Amino acid sequence: MPGIVIVGAQWGDEGKGKLVDLLAERSDVVVRFQGGNNAGHTIVHGDVKYAFHLVPSGILYPGTTCVIGNGVVVDPEVLLGELAQLATQGVDSSGLRISPNAHVIMPYHKFLDVAGEARLGKNQIGTTKRGIGPCYGDKVLRLGIRIQDLLDEKILKKKIVAAMEPKMRSLRPWERDPSLDLQQMTETYLAFGHKLERHIADTTALVWDALDGGGHVLFEGAQAALLDIDHGTYPFVTSSNPVSGSAAVGSGAGPKDLDEIWGVVKAYSTRVGSGPFPTELDGQIATDLRKKGGEQGTTTGRDRRIGWLDLISLKYAARLCTLDQVCLTKLDVLSGQETIKVATKYRTQDDAILERYPYHQTVLHHATPEYDELPGWEEDISGCRELSDLPKAAQDYVAYVEEGIGVPIGMIGVGPGNDENIWTRAGRESAAGKLANLS
Ligand code: IMP
Repeated sequence: MPGIVIVGAQWGDEGKGKLVDLLAERSDVVVRFQGGNNAGHTIVHGDVKYAFHLVPSGILYPGTTCVIGNGVVVDPEVLLGELAQLATQGVDSSGLRISPNAHVIMPYHKFLDVAGEARLGKNQIGTTKRGIGPCYGDKVLRLGIRIQDLLDEKILKKKIVAAMEPKMRSLRPWERDPSLDLQQMTETYLAFGHKLERHIADTTALVWDALDGGGHVLFEGAQAALLDIDHGTYPFVTSSNPVSGSAAVGSGAGPKDLDEIWGVVKAYSTRVGSGPFPTELDGQIATDLRKKGGEQGTTTGRDRRIGWLDLISLKYAARLCTLDQVCLTKLDVLSGQETIKVATKYRTQDDAILERYPYHQTVLHHATPEYDELPGWEEDISGCRELSDLPKAAQDYVAYVEEGIGVPIGMIGVGPGNDENIWTRAGRESAAGKLANLS
């Protein structure tokens, strides 16, 4: 079972990084396949904190090759900054490999992201303003700059001119910005190319060789299924495909290489940015959960919106991603709630009851959830390591969620620490469980 995929099953920030980190040490290759530096997570090893935005966190393990796949959009300045920071922390990044086909976020992409949001006014998406959407836009328009272009001055300049030409009107407010000067941009990005050159490699072949040799390849998703450009709450989505199928496209692996697929699900829901969120809460419960769960964006520092768990959207995500296992994170954050609600159906504006995620955006915008209410628990559960250690109400909550999604829960997070997890029997018997070096 060499190919293990980890994706988010809600709106991102489910805590994928922790599971990835647990599996990365004994993986041969860890590959990011979509998104860019709109993602971010912090890994804590002992007393040291490492912040990751583009580099797979597997870089912390000397024997693991880390790949930024073709499906990722790369801001070279951010990447070089991240590598420099890791170097000051004593991390050897020589094992990083970047696909020559990954697209490059240019200065104009960042300006256009800001301008696009300003133009949308109250309808704005709430992007991370990292230039993600405009960069993927150019990719699809076939006006993108790829990593390989950073190694050839003539081609880079020609491509920048072609990409800038249709954008000049929108870029007028920044026309005198030195970062948009053709000569300066070419030189800066060529310099980035030279600095990154030692990492540029045929990453598709690298992934194939690892898989074909029986090695373990970990496909690390960013964002999550409900932010998927095709299947999420469009247009309030990211500009890539965070669903599991994208692990193949964004790395060059084939669909049959994806042997085991894990969906990471927070024990409640959060969302950053705009867009429908039927189970959203306000008031004291939201404030308490936000505080207890540390629910501020890793990348932008924004407060995350908070809501109850939503089984309708989770079943949708589970099917979209053909999940084999669920990793339920942050169960400890729910401790102390008198009761816990879970949405099982949506009621539409004209009083119809939906058990399936609606395909029509307007229906979703006006849906109100129908809830089941479950008893909560008071106890601190962070010391629990077996399912049976959990208070009865917490065990019942886990069983209820598992049955509701229809996918086994393999791992449960009960605290932020690397070892603060419960592996269930299903989890221990899975390929990921075997890889996780469980004592
Ligand atoms: P973009 O990806 O910067 O274009 O932002 C589009 C939407 O995706 C916004 O609602 C962002 O808040 C959201 N988003 C992007 N990356 C993440 C993430 O890593 N976690 C949670 N939300 C994200």
